[in-house]
Amino acid sequence: MEITLDSRRYAEFETEALVSYVFEETDPVQGRIAELNQATGGLLQKLVKSGELTGKMLEMTLIHAPTGVRAQRLLLVGAGKRDTFTSATLRKIAGAALRYLKARSVKKVAFLAREGDATDESAQVITEGAILANFESDKYKTEKKNGKDVETVLLAGFEVAGRTALERGRMIADSQNFTRELVNEPSNRLTPRVLAERAQAMAREAGLACEILDERKIAELKMGALLSVAQGSVEPPRVIVLTYAPAETRTGAPIIGLVGKAVTFDTGGLSIKSAEGMEKMKYDMAGGATMLGVMRALATLKPAVKVIAVVPSTENMPGGRAQKPGDVQVSMAGKTIEVLNTDAEGRLILADGIEYAKRLGCTHLIDAATLTGAIVVALANVNVGVFGSDQAFTDKLLARAKACGEKMWQMPIDEEYREFIKGGIADIQNISSGKGGGAITAAMFLKEFSGDTPWIHLDIAGTAWLDEQKPWAAKGASGVAVRTLIDLVTKL
Ligand code: BES
Ligand code: ZN
Ligand code: ZN
Repeated sequence: MEITLDSRRYAEFETEALVSYVFEETDPVQGRIAELNQATGGLLQKLVKSGELTGKMLEMTLIHAPTGVRAQRLLLVGAGKRDTFTSATLRKIAGAALRYLKARSVKKVAFLAREGDATDESAQVITEGAILANFESDKYKTEKKNGKDVETVLLAGFEVAGRTALERGRMIADSQNFTRELVNEPSNRLTPRVLAERAQAMAREAGLACEILDERKIAELKMGALLSVAQGSVEPPRVIVLTYAPAETRTGAPIIGLVGKAVTFDTGGLSIKSAEGMEKMKYDMAGGATMLGVMRALATLKPAVKVIAVVPSTENMPGGRAQKPGDVQVSMAGKTIEVLNTDAEGRLILADGIEYAKRLGCTHLIDAATLTGAIVVALANVNVGVFGSDQAFTDKLLARAKACGEKMWQMPIDEEYREFIKGGIADIQNISSGKGGGAITAAMFLKEFSGDTPWIHLDIAGTAWLDEQKPWAAKGASGVAVRTLIDLVTKL
């Protein structure tokens, strides 16, 4: 999809559809919308009067062959109340408009920013919205929706340059789509080995250092927790390590470790899951794919800090050699773990991933994982669950999430919850013996391994997958957290 900037406003564009947005207010016909109203001989005012054009959030008003403009169609998208309007709204509007028009086989779109909105930030979020909306989960359809892709989007009314902002938006959205593409892959086509190859190819293209630890190296490093999950499968595990290093680093500068859970299929192991909905567990590598997408963007956006991604990857299968409930494993950190439930495997592989990131010198850790069904109970598919051991660091992330239009909600990690997993015959047990708080006790398990290193855990089990499409996004992988993490790291 080609995206360009143009300083002209509307009358000159010979586009298939000219898009703008309207606020829900007493008189929605203001500013540039008033100009359009005038050009079209008062048509918009008439639509307001008849109640067809109200500005209600994501209301679509499509006008064919409007007079006074050269565009073949005029699409007005409701933007809701003006005082609740943010760049996140603008991203959604751009995305929803694109999908609406795409469904009507429109190929050329001009998006007119409202008066005061022709800023760098707007150029970035409209670009992001358009690219994210154009993505389809149809790789394995022989008849592609992609054939209907919108081909060109022109950002109209941008008097200021905005070129860099547009390119930043493109890099971020393409990287989020890279993550979505990986997460959508079925597990027979994306084993740990294939994921490692895909990461390696991406790293080569982007210019990142990449090291893949195979099963021998993993054993040599004594990653006993990861190996315990992998032993039930005929597919060998991998640990993907990607490094971005800036040209110059200050002494004492932080080194960010991004650890992502990449279970390419989670059957639950011998604590096997029920058949209903098990197919969705191909998405259990979304945390890892998130970190790969983030690294892809960082290679180009070049933040001033060093970032290392550590992505442990395995299947969780109930094969003949599978670990059994009650088994005791020795993690890389040396802590012993009693595996009371083989379906709580994410925290096991992350324990070794976190330890490895610390050994590589990371001073700050962020992990992302489709870790618990309990976070879905707590926050549904609306908010990412955020857990953090360092409030200042966590506050930074929450602020960036808000700015990027990704909903995240902080959860508690009080010491009291530690009791729930101290246990039995080993140092720690992998499930809680208490009742409730399943997402929190999972986080407490990870905290044991992050130790004193400032650490944030993102539980994306509820948000990494869209069961239904949104007006601005196809169903399937969402790519949640990619934007926030890129923004956080590039603004540290
Ligand atoms: N990958 C799952 C998390 C999950 C479960 C995501 C359901 C979406 C829906 C994770 O490995 C898991 O199975 N967690 C268990 C932990 C339990 C055994 C303590 C869970 O949440 O049920
Ligand atoms: Zn599991
Ligand atoms: Zn899992």
